[in-house]
Amino acid sequence: MAKRYLIETFGCQMNVHDSERMAGLLEHAGYVPATEDAGPDVVVVHTCSVRERAEDKLYARLAELSAAQDDGRSKPVVAVTGCVAQQEGESLAKRHPGVDIVVGTQALKRLPDLLADVEQGVGSSQAVDINPYEDVSFPLGVVRRSDPVKAYVTVIEGCNDYCSYCVVPYTRGHERMRPLADIVAEVSHAVQGGRREVHLLGQIVNHYVAPDRPGTDFAGLLEAVHEVPGVERIRFASPHPRHVTPRMIEAMRVLPRVCRHLHLPLQSGSNRVLARMRRRHTREQYLDLVDALRAAMPSIALSTDMIVGFPGESAEDFEDSLSLVRRVRYTSMFSFKYSPRPHTLAAKRLPDDVPEPEKTRRIIVLQDTQKDIQLTLHQAVIGSTVSVLADSVSRRRADELAGRTGSNVVVNFPGPPDWIGRFIDVRVERAGPNSLSGRPVSVEGVPLRTGDTRLHSGAAGR
Ligand code: SAH
Ligand code: SF4
Ligand code: F3S
Repeated sequence: MAKRYLIETFGCQMNVHDSERMAGLLEHAGYVPATEDAGPDVVVVHTCSVRERAEDKLYARLAELSAAQDDGRSKPVVAVTGCVAQQEGESLAKRHPGVDIVVGTQALKRLPDLLADVEQGVGSSQAVDINPYEDVSFPLGVVRRSDPVKAYVTVIEGCNDYCSYCVVPYTRGHERMRPLADIVAEVSHAVQGGRREVHLLGQIVNHYVAPDRPGTDFAGLLEAVHEVPGVERIRFASPHPRHVTPRMIEAMRVLPRVCRHLHLPLQSGSNRVLARMRRRHTREQYLDLVDALRAAMPSIALSTDMIVGFPGESAEDFEDSLSLVRRVRYTSMFSFKYSPRPHTLAAKRLPDDVPEPEKTRRIIVLQDTQKDIQLTLHQAVIGSTVSVLADSVSRRRADELAGRTGSNVVVNFPGPPDWIGRFIDVRVERAGPNSLSGRPVSVEGVPLRTGDTRLHSGAAGR
């Protein structure tokens, strides 16, 4: 009988996509996904190390897995992969005897081989591979995409920026570009498989330079992906403000399938803190960039990442973050309390001196400020019609769908599951801080009949 696998994923989109790749590799090696009734023979825990709490999730999960074993259930093979695996290597295996395999971020392709070794009892009982393989190729068509609508496509692996708080350069290794030809082939393949939205991924995605086509930068990459027949939306994450060039802004402006949304991590609005974070731009440069983007694309939505309680962040520094957030008016934000990470410059040199209760106070103030901004921005949309790519059944109600606008706002609306993957025009009726909701008015441009609120899927063709 075929062996069953389960992959549990923590962390960023890059990790979600790595899991799709590992799932594909395992299925090529003959494994099948585990089901509710048939438990897994192999559990892969794909880890994140970006904050202490992310790393802790691994240890909590390992404790659960060994508790299940103590209950007498049969023990699956346990593989720990990804950023914590890379960071901890051998020591993770030593500290956790229940872990059979440790695979670093650059060795993921070796997972099936290591599994075979462990299952056949080759070598020691634990297998560890955290070697820095340079190779960024991945066989075309092997990935097992988990989303029916969106396709993640890696364009850059690793990062050379060494922001002082960030563990990623240590867990993901140095920056390596994928050939443009491979990216375009993968995008074409994904589109042929029915995906309509492409997400280009890299730690500093806009640092892209094609190794196989001289003169092609990130703007050129956007152009090349835009030309692939069938691509209807292009998104990318994450760009670094420092590498947003006039060419990139112009490409976004003229290419209609590139979404009018830019995730532009800020981290702090204080120049003093930005310098200590080694972000290599100032508050003023960031604001000039926001102005340039809005001059080129007045409707562009901006989102960001923020850190509160970075070492030495004073009440005044935090006020600078707040004032910048109020000024830019982001459509969404991820905010985090600083936590020291292994190997990083900040952890080595800067004492984690903002007390925990103060970090909590600041993050609450920041999130409340952001919530008010989002609510105001969303309320302004009530009464207008937005184009939504339906991507899932709504989390709120089974007879509703959810999707996103080009500017990345979540919209809920009544509709049947077979609208997933279609563009729906939705008239917005209600707005909350995190989403909009409304009535569908057309499906793929075909108007729905008035009164057709039961919304039979036959009401409009594809
Ligand atoms: N490569 C991306 C994202 C990196 S990690 C970029 O450069 O934008 C995602 C986010 O986690 C960061 O933007 C930052 O806000 C947060 N983060 C990273 N390290 C952190 C730390 N040590 N403590 C708290 N938040 C952190
Ligand atoms: Fe981390 Fe900075 Fe690289 Fe982003 S740019 S991954 S925050 S080091
Ligand atoms: Fe986490 Fe690694 Fe991504 S540390 S955020 S999974 S690159």
